[in-house]
Amino acid sequence: MSDRLFIFDTTLRDGEQVPGCQLNTIEKIQVAKQLESLGVDVIEAGFPISSPGDFNSVIEISKAVTWPTICALTRAVEKDIDVAVEALQYAKRKRIHTGIGTSEEHIRYKFHTTHDEIIERAVAAVKYAKRFCDDVEFYAEDAGRTDNEYLARVIEAVVKAGATICNIPDTTGYCLPEEFGAKIKYLMEHVDGLSNGKAILSTHCHNDLGLATANTMAGILNGARQAEVTINGIGERAGNTSLEEIAMILKCHQGIGIDTNINTQRIYPTSRLVSSLMNMPIQPNKAIVGRNAFAHSSGIHQDGVLKNTETYEIMNPQDVGIDENNIVLTARSGHAALKHRLQVLGVEFTNESLDQLYEAFLRLADLKKEVTDDDILMLAGVDRSATNAIKLDYLQVTTGMGVKSVAAIGLNISGEKFEASASGNGPVDAAIKALKCIIRRQMTLKEFTIQAISKGSDDVGKVHMQVEYDGRLYYGFGANTDIVTASVEAYIDCINKFKK
Ligand code: KIV
Ligand code: ZN
Repeated sequence: MSDRLFIFDTTLRDGEQVPGCQLNTIEKIQVAKQLESLGVDVIEAGFPISSPGDFNSVIEISKAVTWPTICALTRAVEKDIDVAVEALQYAKRKRIHTGIGTSEEHIRYKFHTTHDEIIERAVAAVKYAKRFCDDVEFYAEDAGRTDNEYLARVIEAVVKAGATICNIPDTTGYCLPEEFGAKIKYLMEHVDGLSNGKAILSTHCHNDLGLATANTMAGILNGARQAEVTINGIGERAGNTSLEEIAMILKCHQGIGIDTNINTQRIYPTSRLVSSLMNMPIQPNKAIVGRNAFAHSSGIHQDGVLKNTETYEIMNPQDVGIDENNIVLTARSGHAALKHRLQVLGVEFTNESLDQLYEAFLRLADLKKEVTDDDILMLAGVDRSATNAIKLDYLQVTTGMGVKSVAAIGLNISGEKFEASASGNGPVDAAIKALKCIIRRQMTLKEFTIQAISKGSDDVGKVHMQVEYDGRLYYGFGANTDIVTASVEAYIDCINKFKK
């Protein structure tokens, strides 16, 4: 019989911490429901004490989701645990994830304390959390750089105190796979309570050296039975282990004898939904979900695949939910085709919002030949800006080689119309200068990236921007077949987020 690996998804906590990836509660619920249909065992829904937004999201996700366990993060601090307990009150299955740093660096520079005191605080936090919740997970932050003997003492103490899952994070992404595997093996062999199933070990690997998946696999092969992962590998800095990679490694290598509950056919729609809602593009060569993951370009490979797909394909694209026989959506597609695509992509809609989406779809289909999944997700997200105070009414730009670019802009600010024009060294510069003639604030553009969603000169361009205002950075996003308009929309998106 196969062993079971529990999948703990932290897209909505570790992933959502990434600057620019913040979601509102409605979007988080959408992702949580998608994760439920994907089959994850645990959803880490947030860090409730960190902000009212996180607190609320844990409440609402707990109400919206039925069978996965909902987990809330805390530090080893009673107040954190109290707030997490309150946030988890509606969860059908709940978990408190508490912990403390255990490496020399954390003990010495973060806590200015002793090794024994860290163990006391860890044990106290687990015991306190146990008063409210049976399911308590402990994390030893920076376990990757923690001495194994000391780590074993910490883990044994928290298991005795009642922790049923012990998370061994490679917080800084420093470990080599062999080293991380050996750490898990050491703990399995030296901690009372692990071999008899009283508690299990979990991996939580960061990708700073590109080793997150390799380290997670090394952990699993040495006895860890929970993996903490995110969709598309998003997360702090270089990200976390990708859920899709672990799920597909175990599916492709049946000989390992470890299964997950992941419905792998839901991987692709989940990946697109997260990428779209978080405005986080997926690199084309990303394993499993990148645009090129199943594209064979060299002549030799194409020849082989045409003879038999097994020559160069270790997975079937349909196994991860890539529907190669997709009906292409064009201006001639009807409501039913759009409705089907939205369902495949996991986008929720009502009859009314479907009508609105269909109108927006037709407008886009008039501008480009084929409407892709990314376009549809982008359209489905457009009404996120419907409640914004500042909206772009119109934009007209004259530009070209050897002439100065000139832009005229119209804004609607809470129902009132404003117009301005300006010139610049290019169309985007002119348009932003015109915008600044209306919004007279000290704002500085810090980052500006333009990306085509798929291919073709008629494609939708996505623009990500960072604008500094009043000492803070704001992230904005715009998408349009006209990249100057997309740029202005991204700038306006930032302005709409300024703290009043
Ligand atoms: O990377 C890490 O150590 C974490 C913990 C809070 C689990 O995210
Ligand atoms: Zn982390």
